[in-house]
Order: sequence, then C-alpha cells, then structure tokens
Amino acid sequence: MKRAIIAAFAAIILGSGAYADTIKIGVVGPFSGPFALQGKNFKAGIDAYMAMHGTTVGDDTVKIIYRDLPAADPAQSKALAQELVVKEKVQYLAGFYFTPDAMAVTPILKQADVPLIVMNAATSAIVTKSPLVVRTSFTTWQTSTPIAKVAHDAGVAKVISIVSDYGPGIDAENAFKAGFEKEGGAVVEAIRMPLSTNDFSPIMQRIKDSGAQGVFAFLPSGPTTLGFVKAYNENGLKAAGIKFFAPGDLTQESDLPALGDAALGIQTTFHYAVSHDSPENKAFVEAASKAIGNPAELSFPSVGAFDGMNVIYKMIEATGGEQDAQKAVDAVKGLSWISPRGPVSIDPESRHITQNIYLREVTKADDGSYYNKEIQTFEKQGDPGLAAIK
Ligand code: PHB
Repeated sequence: MKRAIIAAFAAIILGSGAYADTIKIGVVGPFSGPFALQGKNFKAGIDAYMAMHGTTVGDDTVKIIYRDLPAADPAQSKALAQELVVKEKVQYLAGFYFTPDAMAVTPILKQADVPLIVMNAATSAIVTKSPLVVRTSFTTWQTSTPIAKVAHDAGVAKVISIVSDYGPGIDAENAFKAGFEKEGGAVVEAIRMPLSTNDFSPIMQRIKDSGAQGVFAFLPSGPTTLGFVKAYNENGLKAAGIKFFAPGDLTQESDLPALGDAALGIQTTFHYAVSHDSPENKAFVEAASKAIGNPAELSFPSVGAFDGMNVIYKMIEATGGEQDAQKAVDAVKGLSWISPRGPVSIDPESRHITQNIYLREVTKADDGSYYNKEIQTFEKQGDPGLAAIK
C-alpha cells in the first residue's frame, strides 16, 4: 500500500510510470499477415504461463504489451522496440519470430537497460550481439545437427541441401553439412533460395536432377513450409524415393492437417512436439489449448514463449521488480527447470537454452489426426553453432 502511494506520487511528479508496481513486458511478433498463427502461438504460450502461475510476481503486477510485426522487417522491429522502451517504459523485451528482427534490437538493450528474451529467432549469433540476450527457443544448428546422423543411419550417402537465404537457413545448411560429412556423407549441392520464394517446382526439378538420394531442407515455419512439403509430394519426389530430412520447422503440428498423408513418415529433429509425453506437457497443452481456442493450431512458438515467461518471472523475482537488466540476466544464468519440452537449462556462458532434441516421425493416430511421434532422444544438446562461429 505504502509503495503504491509512493509510486502514485512519483508518477505524478516524474510524469512517468517508472516507480509503478506494474512491470511491463513488450512482446513483438507476427500477429497479423501470413505468419499470424506463429504470433498467436506466442500469445497462447504467454497466456498459458500466466494462467498457471498468476499475473503477479511478489507485489508487482505483470502486464504484456503486444506489438505486431507481420514479416521480417528489422527497421520496423527496432522502431517498435524503441517505442516500447521510451513511451511504454517496458522493463523487458520479448518475442521476436524472425532473426533479422531480433538482431535489430540488440544494439538498444544496454542503453535502455532492458533484457531481450528471444522466444523464437534461431540464428546462433543473436546471443553474441549483446550480453543482455537470453534465448528460450532453439537454434537451427541445435536442431539440424542430429538429423545429419539420422540421414546417414538411413543409408543415405548423397544429399542436396535447400535453405532460405538468411541467418537460420545458412546456419542450418552449415550444421547439416558439418554433421553429414563427419558421418562420411556428401552434400552434392547446396541451394539458398530467397525468403520470399513460394513457387517450389523449379527447386523440386533441381532436386531430381542432382542425383541425390535425399534432401535436407530448412525454411521458417509458416505458409512457406506448408508449400514446400506439399511441392515435395506433388512433384513426385516422395514417390521417387528421395528421402526428406529437416528440422521440425518443416512439420509443425499446425500444418499437419493441411498436409495430410503428404507428410506421413517424414522424420525431423526438433526441441518440441505437442505430443511430448510428460505431466508438464500435459498441463501446458491443456492451458495453451484453452488460450488458443483451437488445439490443432498449437505449435512450437508457444513453448518458446511459455519458457520465456518462466525466465522473465525469475528475473523479476531476482531484481525485486527494479529495473536492472544485467542483474536480471545474471539471475537466470545456469537456471534449470522442467519445461513442457523436457529438462532444460540456460547455459551460463552463452545464455542460450540447453535441451533435448528429439527425432520424430509424422504418424497417423487412431482418430485419423496426424502428429509428430517422438522416437529417439538426443539428450542435453547445447548450441554447436556457437563453437562454429567463434
Ligand atoms: C528465424 O528467423 O530465426 C526463424 C523463424 C522461423 C523458424 C526458425 C527460425 O521456424
């Protein structure tokens, strides 16, 4: 009460909410446009966390302020972050689906005294751009390294690699190549296509012409991944026995109803499957389904957001609600907990999440629905990408 009165006076005198008991978190993501479902998953994860853990930390109330960034747009991302910091006085920045958007915000963190909790963007280098970045999603190095071993173990010796030509795609290409060559395999051709590509027929022809026995692919989850997997099927590559290997972005659960049998049998490696069998995930899926409305729309950005909120709550607790970005970040170095995805921890040096990566296969359930069935676990995976870019 006393604190509330002081805060009210301070707010009047200073004309700002700097001493208020409300802690604002600015969340930037695609909430409209072609990637809106990914942003909807950010919100579902955040809502699920707050439904399960409350909306207060100590005597502080947490308030989320959303800003819509429909497509990768670094200039707009920076402008939104600046507005959130200066006008809204957010103490935390979070969300960020696309790598260029997260990258664009890292230069303002120190001066703003605000940590950035990356809930999706997956290029390894993001955490190296500021000591105030913590990531609760994954990197494409982390998810694309194990699939190289899977491809080799499936008896495939020659692979063609196809990725979107930007940060996480280039990381995925390098990760797969490094892992596959270590196993004795060869990447016969590596194609980088513009992020805006949506006609995949010419690419499918190049895959056929390459003589490769398998294709490795990474595109950011959304309408493009759906189009790519459909094209793989419709252009007869699946029927021709050309095997498909990818990180789990290519078979996100929300795409599976539209893909139907086209995705059946595809093996991917990823940090999270909605079907993950654990009490923590059961509770999460229940809360997140309620939040999103249609459970068939649940996908991996929800878990990155849910765990991101866990990190932010720990930060608020450790700082007693005061604004001290470095203290907040230091407080979560080494933090470990059981996530809906399995056991995780924040690596104290990189501030990136260490986690299990699972091999999954798209499977048809008895009720006719499709899901990613976990069939193997690669335990406690750090980010191999950080060593690679040193
Ligand atoms: C990224 O831009 O870092 C990104 C976006 C979507 C994904 C993976 C990575 O599925």
